Amino acid sequence: MSEVTFPEGFLWGGALAANQSEGSYLADGKGLTTVDMLPHGPHRLPVKLGLEKRVTLRDDEYYPSHDAIDFYRRYKDDIALMAEMGFTVFRTSIAWSRIYPNGDELAPNPAGIAFYRSLFEECRKYGIAPLVTLSHFDVPMHLVTEYGSWRNRKLVTFFARYARTCFEAFDGLVKYWLTFNEINILLHSPFSGAGLVFEPGENPEQVKYQAAHHELVASALATKIAHEVNPQNQVGCMLAGGNFYPWSCKPEDVWAALEKDRENLFFIDVQARGAYPSYAARLFREKGIEIAWQDGDAETLRHTVDFVSFSYYASRCASADMNERNSSAANVVKSLTNPHVERSAWGWGIDPLGLRITMNMMYDRYQKPLFLVENGLGARDEVDANGEIHDDYRISYLQQHIRAMGDAIADGIPVIGYTTWGCIDLVAASTGEMSKRYGFVYVDRDDKGNGTLERIRKKSFWWYKKVIASNGRDLSMD
Ligand code: BG6
Repeated sequence: MSEVTFPEGFLWGGALAANQSEGSYLADGKGLTTVDMLPHGPHRLPVKLGLEKRVTLRDDEYYPSHDAIDFYRRYKDDIALMAEMGFTVFRTSIAWSRIYPNGDELAPNPAGIAFYRSLFEECRKYGIAPLVTLSHFDVPMHLVTEYGSWRNRKLVTFFARYARTCFEAFDGLVKYWLTFNEINILLHSPFSGAGLVFEPGENPEQVKYQAAHHELVASALATKIAHEVNPQNQVGCMLAGGNFYPWSCKPEDVWAALEKDRENLFFIDVQARGAYPSYAARLFREKGIEIAWQDGDAETLRHTVDFVSFSYYASRCASADMNERNSSAANVVKSLTNPHVERSAWGWGIDPLGLRITMNMMYDRYQKPLFLVENGLGARDEVDANGEIHDDYRISYLQQHIRAMGDAIADGIPVIGYTTWGCIDLVAASTGEMSKRYGFVYVDRDDKGNGTLERIRKKSFWWYKKVIASNGRDLSMD
């Protein structure tokens, strides 16, 4: 195998999200947020999809986000572990409802600002650059109950205020920003993605695309504000990535895959190119959608992002005959099961070459630097009799994907950095499980919330430390 070469200054690190790690869900004035309403168990999916309305918590359910892995109180120790691995970048999100507990206040919550300031200062202490997502599956519940969340234009104003507050409060501490995590997931998981719950008689497509329009305007506005506050700020959009492969070379299958890709890339087309793509008009016509625009929206959308970030877990597959019965939703986006790729214990495809394909497609399309901000293997880990975790399967997954990313760099693509998902074990977004683990660091906690929360370095911890120290040259297992 050829050696992969990463550019000098390439950022290496890992990623968390506030809602999956912090816990302390009502501490220091934080308001309830959408993810706080997601129970573990059979109701999780219908609530996530916006099919079951949940505006109050129930006594008979367990909500994993409420305590999560207690990052809110343990962040200093956790950042120290990341520094020990040699991280130069650490991705997390700000919980909107810590800064604006209801979302529509005029003044922010000082305790929320103090928490994130302290977290980012801790990163600076170790020379770690924070990469901060403003909205990672996380809308203050008050905005859901009072305004209907992103279907309401007012959210644009609230979000712009929140974004400005963050850019100003953390100026000099944070340079890399993402506006909306996996913005395309709004289409596939409307409540967890964007706080949307559908009312009887509504056209869900209309609601989703109107909400999308609002998020796209809000994202462009935030990008503009970030640049005004500090021209050094670098703002990215964020796609739940993974190209669709055609099931066969039948032209109808190729067309189906192209259409499926467009569904997701629609968002990035706007954020990276500054206007709605030409195919959108037909899409809206066919789905009976009419987007309400306001004066100035087209101009606002011209504020494009500085880089394109994305998550990559697996490629996808589509055919002209795809339907509810023959497709499944690994990582929420529906796909046919590709028989040519391996699968994880949760049925997610494992396709490193798909990463290179996805990166090439994205760079061909956007001509902006890429940033791979989520990638990893969700797996069950066992602590052995010596208290050790030998997660060779995770090392193998990451090794193959880092190699594929290196190949994409050799293809000529500028890539800013790489943050693996869930560098410390955290709550799985899809299932609410703790047992679906991604981390280099094990957290002693189970699916029901039992455990000491002790942190244990896994075998992959030492491996990734070596990868970073060699700037990706040494990917060997031992
Ligand atoms: C991405 C999300 O979709 O995938 C993360 O941005 C999520 O929040 C990750 O955790 C992995 O998914 P899961 O369901 O295994 O946690």
